[in-house]
Amino acid sequence: MNALDHNRSLLGDYGSYVLPVLNFRRIVLVRGSGSYVWDANGNRYLDLNSGQFCSVLGHSNPDVARTLLEISQTLQHTDTSTLSETFLRAARKIHDCVPEMNGRTILLSTGAEAVECCLKYAKHIKERPGTLSLDRGYHGLTHGSAACSLSRDRIRPPLDHSYVAPAPVVHGDADDGPEVDRCIEHFAEIVARHRQHIAAAIVEPILSGGGFLFPPPRYFQEIRQICDDNDVFLIFDECQTGFGRTGTWFHYEQLDCIPDFVVSAKAMGLGYPVSCVIANGHTVPHPKFAMEYFSSHQNEPFAGALVTHLIDRIETCDLLAANRRSGEHLLAQLATLAAEFPLVASPRGKGLMCAFDLNVPATVDGKQAGDRFCAIAQENGLLIQHCNFGRTIRLLPNYLASPEDFAFLADRLRDTLATFQIFLDQTS
Ligand SMILES: Cc1ncc(COP(=O)(O)O)c(C=O)c1O
Repeated sequence: MNALDHNRSLLGDYGSYVLPVLNFRRIVLVRGSGSYVWDANGNRYLDLNSGQFCSVLGHSNPDVARTLLEISQTLQHTDTSTLSETFLRAARKIHDCVPEMNGRTILLSTGAEAVECCLKYAKHIKERPGTLSLDRGYHGLTHGSAACSLSRDRIRPPLDHSYVAPAPVVHGDADDGPEVDRCIEHFAEIVARHRQHIAAAIVEPILSGGGFLFPPPRYFQEIRQICDDNDVFLIFDECQTGFGRTGTWFHYEQLDCIPDFVVSAKAMGLGYPVSCVIANGHTVPHPKFAMEYFSSHQNEPFAGALVTHLIDRIETCDLLAANRRSGEHLLAQLATLAAEFPLVASPRGKGLMCAFDLNVPATVDGKQAGDRFCAIAQENGLLIQHCNFGRTIRLLPNYLASPEDFAFLADRLRDTLATFQIFLDQTS
């Protein structure tokens, strides 16, 4: 072993203390700054995932650090039944960003927790036990959220009354034809058949983990109508798309379709565990104590401070417009790469949520190909993730990523694709 391989020695010394729930990367990160992170050997990586799509103002942002320091020196925590001024101001800010929702917010910790809370709330109000989700959707790994996700077959025991409709396998607004019709029909049939059991339908406006699918606005408008006609709530899971990622506060704004609940997470916590459920004040009845919900870290002051910080920063720096511009730039770069490398298929995206498919032969295992691609990217100084069982590469950079960062990305992606092609030539 190289005596200076600190990544390896850290994993060797401490790795056996870690619950092995994942095949972790073989590097150990020690610091981050802006769009970059460094491993224990001093190697620098451009982080195209913003952590797990969360550190949207970059790593170790000094203003975020100041906000956290300030709240931790003012009010660290409250008992669950007592609200803080910091939380109340954040709830009001969320309301004012999207007044059409007349939103009523609870802040929670993870995306799955927020989905779980939302489903529970919807079932409680409708007094029905079931949900309808899309086959390629992903909503988290708690029992209720997993029952609505593409890994649903792995949960034990399966949840009764978890109905599933096919997601349109389409890649953009122009992709609005028979596939979308077919999926709307399925959705309508399932709701009609099981309406007495379904409290809510839950959908991602962009299906990320399931293949970066972009159903067109008509799809969402029609399922909205079906839900209304059958007295079923419509929940938008905006854990990835929410708080500016696609160039609007929430992605539903681009679909002309207002949901009954928005669930969000990731960006809103700036790298710390913050999520939320926003109930539509016009369509969700809100008697006092509609349903009790009591957990140790709900409506935390630090969560309120981070959300307020992000909203203020988005407003003062006009980051919604900036994300739309940066996204167009990134997408243009992916289109250029697609023209150069037949390996790059269907570049697509909205704002800073972009992806392309790996055009590998059907005989190559998708997961193996995706893992290999990301490993080569890492050797080239890029931290990138795949989804869609390895067949799609997704890029969700931070909101402050610069043109230089994107130039570095394009350069290193070229090297990655060239090496990946050699790997494919050798395996097929
Ligand atoms: C759309 C969506 N919903 C829910 C979740 C679950 O969030 P968490 O991992 O914070 O529980 C995720 C996580 O990737 C997600 O992308």
